[in-house]
Formats: sequence, C-alpha cells, structure tokens
Amino acid sequence: MPSTEEFAWVTLTTNDTYSLGALVLAHSLKRAGTAHQLAVLVTPTVSEAMRDRLKDVYNVVQEVNVLDSQDAANLALLARPELGVTFTKLHCWRLVQFEKCVFLDADTLVLKNCDELFEREELSAAPDVSWPDCFNSGVFVFKPSVETFNQITEFAVKNGSFDGGDQGLLNQFFADWATADIKKHLPFVYNVTAYASYCYLPAFKQFRDKIKILHFAGKLKPWLIQFNSETKTAATPHDYSHAKDLIQHWWTIFCDNVHHFLDDTMPIKPDNTDIASDNTDRSVQPEAGLAGALAQLRIGVERTPEQEQYENLMRRQCWESGQIDYSGADAFDNIWKKITQTLEAKPDKEAEAEADQTDNDNVNDNDNTIGYNKLLTKTASRLLQQTHNATPARPSSDRSPSPSPSPSSSSSLATNQGSSVAEAKASPAAATTNKLPTNAQKPVSSNTAVEQQPTTTTTTGKPQRVQPAAQATQPQHILQQSPAPTKPSRQKASRKFK
Ligand code: UDP
Ligand code: GLC
Ligand code: MN
Repeated sequence: MPSTEEFAWVTLTTNDTYSLGALVLAHSLKRAGTAHQLAVLVTPTVSEAMRDRLKDVYNVVQEVNVLDSQDAANLALLARPELGVTFTKLHCWRLVQFEKCVFLDADTLVLKNCDELFEREELSAAPDVSWPDCFNSGVFVFKPSVETFNQITEFAVKNGSFDGGDQGLLNQFFADWATADIKKHLPFVYNVTAYASYCYLPAFKQFRDKIKILHFAGKLKPWLIQFNSETKTAATPHDYSHAKDLIQHWWTIFCDNVHHFLDDTMPIKPDNTDIASDNTDRSVQPEAGLAGALAQLRIGVERTPEQEQYENLMRRQCWESGQIDYSGADAFDNIWKKITQTLEAKPDKEAEAEADQTDNDNVNDNDNTIGYNKLLTKTASRLLQQTHNATPARPSSDRSPSPSPSPSSSSSLATNQGSSVAEAKASPAAATTNKLPTNAQKPVSSNTAVEQQPTTTTTTGKPQRVQPAAQATQPQHILQQSPAPTKPSRQKASRKFK
C-alpha cells in the first residue's frame, strides 16, 4: 500500500469565487479525517491573496494555464457558457508526483471519510444523474501520467466534447466506462447531486445519511445562496429545501474555518480584472469579487453597511445568473411593494432629481442602502414613464401598480438594480449568456494549443519537479490556452505547469 504522500485529492479553481468552494472543500476533507494530501490547480486569474489562503490548507497549490474548449455551441446545450474552462481540469493528469488521485469539483462537499476511493482504479466515477451511462466528472479516481494527459488533449483537439466541457470529453475518451468494469462505477453516494430531479426526493430522504460526497452541480452554488451574516444562516431556495441542512453545513464550514482567514484586501472587483473596460462600477458587476465582499462581512454581529453591500451584490449576482427566489425575497409582490413604497415616500420631483443624480453616484457608497434606493427609484420612474407612454390613458399622477404587470417588466425591473431600464436584459438567462468574456474565452495570440514546459512546482513545503510533456501541435480553435494574466504576479506564488 503506497504511503499517504502518494495519494492526493485534487481540485481546480480559475477564480476567487470558485476558490471559496475549494477552501470549504479542503476543510470538509480535513474534518472527515483524510490521511491524504490536498492539491489545487489554480489559474493566473486567481488573486495572490486567495492563493495564500489556499496554501494554508492545500499541500500543493499548482498554477496551470487555462485550457478552454471554446465550444460555444455545445456549451449552449448545457446552458453553461462559462464551462469551457473546465478543460483546465485535464492538467490534473500532470500531477505525476502522486501515484493516484481523486479529482473533486470545487463545488463538492465531503461529508464522510472517503479514503477508500484510492483503492479504485482509473477511471472510476459515479453515474451522471442526467444520463447514467455517462459518469459525472465532478468526482473521479485517476492515475497521473503525462502520457495520458497528452492522449486526452490530442483526443480533445480531434474530437471535441459533446457538452463543451470536460465531462463530455472524458466520457468520450474513457468510452467503455459504462460497460467494461463495474468496479469503476462508484456508488452514487460518492457524488450525490444536490439538485433534485424527478423521483429524487424519496431516495434522497431514504439514503440521506449515507451520502459521502455532495455535489452542488448546476448553476446554484452554495456561495450564491443568500446568507444572513447576523444569524449565520443560508436562505435555502424552495427547490433545495431537501438539502437545507447540507447547504447550511457548507456555510458553517465557511464561517468556522474560512471566513476569518479571508483577506479584506481581496478585491471587490470582477475576478478577471481586465474584463471591464468601461467606467462602470465593478463592485456591482456580475461575478464581482464575492470573496472580497465576504471578507468584509462581520459574522454573528448586528448587520453593518458592509452586510447591506454584500447582500445587494449577492442579489444582483443571483439575478444575473438566473438564481431568482421567485416565491421568496425576489417575489414580484415584494419588488413591486418596494417600488411603490419608495415612490410614495418621496414627492415626484425630489425622487426624479435624486434619481438623476445617481448617474454619477457610486452604489458602493458607505450608505449603500441609500444608493440602492436611489437606483431603484430611478429605475421605477423610468419604467413607469415607459408604461405611461405605452398607455397614455393613465393619468401621470397614477402610480399604483397595474393589475396585471407583464413578465418582461418584472424581469427588467429586477435585473437592473444598478442600471437603467434602457439597459435591461431580456431575461436572467440572457444576462448569463451575455456575460463578459473571461480571460480564458478571449482569443489567443499564439497558435499553441497546449503549451507544456518543464517547470518547478511550488508546494507548501518542498518544491517539486514536473515532467515535461510533448508539445501539442494541433490547431488552436478546439483547445485554447488563455493569454498571460494582465496583472503582474508576484513570483512567490506557485510557478506554472505551462
Ligand atoms: N471551474 C472553475 N471556474 C469556472 C468554472 C468551473 O474553476 O469558472 C471548476 C471548478 O472546480 C468547478 C468545476 O470546474 O467545480 C466544474 O464546474 P461546475 O462545478 O460549475 O460544473 P457543474 O458541476 O455545475 O456542472
Ligand atoms: C458536469 C460536471 C462538471 C463538469 C461539467 C462540464 O455536469 O458536474 O464536473 O465540469 O459538467 O463538462
Ligand atoms: Mn461541479
């Protein structure tokens, strides 16, 4: 039996937000008493401050370049345009300092010790809930090998991936998984999806206590769930109520093991700092630095302006990623009530004057609630103006809600807490699709499909040498590598697998 040094749990993060998941995951592994090493692959788009936090808990923090499928068409089938970067996972095969590894997505949570997984062979994984003849690639056992890495990347260039992400690719590559060897089928308890599909709930209830690894697969991630810092509770959306205690468990680990160590110098900016070239306030951009906002929270004490700021940031982020609590806080009635209250509280002229002023205001004011209300008032005024234009019969003083407001007006209103109706996005889904490109999704300047050079790996403790891999020569359009990060990185961070 190899020593524990030879086995590692491996995850991946390409930004500070997924890094929150990686931190909670690492602590969940430690709480479960694993005897094995922890390794995380990070891309240059993870901040220095966050890498330092990852180094506190991971034995190996390995920088890798982004690999992106750039396969918009297949990713559209998944409705997850951002998942092209999951090809970056493939770098896990290059961790050849380990004999065997288990890859875990950063959105997984280990509930019980699973060290027995290292007795399994490559490629062992659990069935995917959507197509059980495929395995889910959020949890899999593999054997690091530069040769395998080369084979998979070459295969990717030739064949692509049917879902545009690593799961389609790996299922095509390990194509006999469904039929060849039942020992490579992990029991479902090693990768239980938090989201409940048809027939799921009775089984979830029955086997709840046997779950070993929970996977927040899908758009709703635990860090995107509204969290009340005063009461330390997460507001679980209705369709996740079966997993309420498990979502709370994620947040409990976050509060107990992660939050104190977050650095409040972490930027409250988009994770990819080069994406916003306009002069908009980045603190309220989607995917803005959630880690930075959370770092500024004081947990377990009375709510502060920072808490309000965080909640506003979260609410917008949730809206724009399609996570809308239609029957809860985001219910149409609540939004409409807020608008009418705000309008009733102010004479029209004053409200409009204030609203105009918000063009120059920053919603990141100390009193963010005031900024938010101003924006809401402005948005409401403009919307009502539009409504009046469309229905001239209504007197201008009549600002009461229309008896049957159209869905599009509710969507526009609520998605635009920080911008005007004219900029309204048609729907949360459209907002997600229109997201600004990440570093990884930008065109590359070199023609290199996967650049691979021998380099020094920084581990916590001892530097290690990584084996060179052959240069891939395939065209760049299928498997692309991101350009160098725009931020100069301090050299003390991990060096790259390139
Ligand atoms: N990931 C990442 N950055 C991204 C998207 C994904 O680091 O922008 C990594 C992360 O480890 C994540 C995994 O790739 O857990 C797979 O993505 P995700 O879990 O969102 O896919 P899902 O399980 O929801 O299909
Ligand atoms: C899946 C997996 C995830 C993978 C993604 C893209 O649903 O859960 O690990 O990255 O699809 O293929
Ligand atoms: Mn996942």
